[in-house]
Amino acid sequence: MNFPALDLLSVETLNLDEFLGHLSMLSLSLLLSINTLQLFCTIPPKELRTLKSLLGKGQHMAASDTVPLLTPYKMGKFELSHRIVLAPLTRQRSYGNVPQPHAILYYSQRTSKGGLLIAEGTVVSDTAQGYPETPGIWTREQVEAWKPIVDAVHEKGGIFFCQIWHVGRVSNYNFQPNGQAPISCTDKPLTPQVRANGIDVVTFSTPRRLRTEEIPLVVNDFRTAARNAIEAGFDGVEIHGAHGYLIDQFMKDQVNDRTDQYGGSLENRCRFALEVVEAIVDEIGADRVGIRLSPYASYMESGDSNPEALGLYMVNALNKYGILYCHMVEPRMKAVGDKVEIPHTLLPMRKAFNGTFIAAGGYDREEGNKVISSGYTDLVAYGRIFLANPDLPRRFQLNAPLNKYNRDTFYIPDPVVGYTDYPFLESDSYTNNE
Ligand SMILES: Cc1cc2nc3c(=O)[nH]c(=O)nc-3n(C[C@H](O)[C@H](O)[C@H](O)COP(=O)(O)O)c2cc1C
Ligand SMILES: *[C@@H]1O[C@H](CO)[C@@H](O)[C@H](O)[C@H]1NC(C)=O
Repeated sequence: MNFPALDLLSVETLNLDEFLGHLSMLSLSLLLSINTLQLFCTIPPKELRTLKSLLGKGQHMAASDTVPLLTPYKMGKFELSHRIVLAPLTRQRSYGNVPQPHAILYYSQRTSKGGLLIAEGTVVSDTAQGYPETPGIWTREQVEAWKPIVDAVHEKGGIFFCQIWHVGRVSNYNFQPNGQAPISCTDKPLTPQVRANGIDVVTFSTPRRLRTEEIPLVVNDFRTAARNAIEAGFDGVEIHGAHGYLIDQFMKDQVNDRTDQYGGSLENRCRFALEVVEAIVDEIGADRVGIRLSPYASYMESGDSNPEALGLYMVNALNKYGILYCHMVEPRMKAVGDKVEIPHTLLPMRKAFNGTFIAAGGYDREEGNKVISSGYTDLVAYGRIFLANPDLPRRFQLNAPLNKYNRDTFYIPDPVVGYTDYPFLESDSYTNNE
């Protein structure tokens, strides 16, 4: 955002509305900073009131055209122009684990100048797969295939992170090299799960428990994947530590039943995750590393008896590595009437974490604006509605209606349908509001 010099002379060169708009954006940004500052230190109440009322004056003048989600944010060395992040979304259209040219259009449609995008879960090795046609990043061919996709995002000014992923026991023999057993921290199998369509049942093979001395090899697969992601041009990586996949399997006490240094205590259960972080930080630098965690989730029978302790232990440990961001998933939303209620229980972790905080799960425009202006999070990641609205930041800016997402086409292999055919806003129908 460029502010005009706020001296009186420059007012003459702007029209009054424009000037008030800039002033109000500036006071909103300052207000946001003050709210965030308050989380970490105590501003005496009297000074705080004075500060806020001063800033509130500016805000009041043009409150209707300032959208907290659309304020800029500096994430490490990245200058983000707004707070709306594309959440990682598996689309299962990467035939033979190789990213395809149709992903160029898909990601560039969802790119805005200064916007952050997180690529779909991308598997780190041939043992890491559990779903058909998910992209990988362990072969030369895969790295080369990512390059034009990353280039297209950069051409439009986007910042692009690659989510690197190992499914662990959420797999079966058919996805594994030589039909071997999937690997995990445990040999406890997952019970068959009903697919999102409510009809298909997915079955999983009994996993093989990794031996202690094999674990560094898996850590190394993550390290190599991160190096490959940087080679493909990505700005950084997001370690997939959420949703019941391998890293989460180690962390959660419902799954991890090990008796070596990778199981038992909280410290031991988090060891694998932190070794992955350490290896990647060492390989590409902390300023390019994020991680996604879902301490409260119990997807894939991966729950924990004390999610808050787990989340807090992790963010405090992550602080020591100085990584760029922590991306946390809200507990499962509850439907209250026709509105989903977001539990907002991530605050202790947000307060303890020193880097950028991203929250995800069930957010809409209104909830997103609320959590940005209260300082609950720095950025908000949007999944389903960004999937269905390639121009989501623009729609939020204009408060325009949204396309509805179609669950039936989330995971079909079609290169267009449900993928690149969600419509943009008509270019001229909202110009009056801009
Ligand atoms: C089609 C689809 C694919 C997803 N794939 C991933 C994934 O690859 N990695 C991940 O961490 N989360 C994945 N998620 C979860 C989303 O990133 C997000 O957390 C979830 O959809 C909740 O956010 P929302 O309410 O904004 O959709 C996926 C969700 C959907 C609907
Ligand atoms: C995190 O930030 C707090 C507050 O600014 C500071 O006291 C602490 O030393 C930081 N931790 C690390 C590991 O950098």
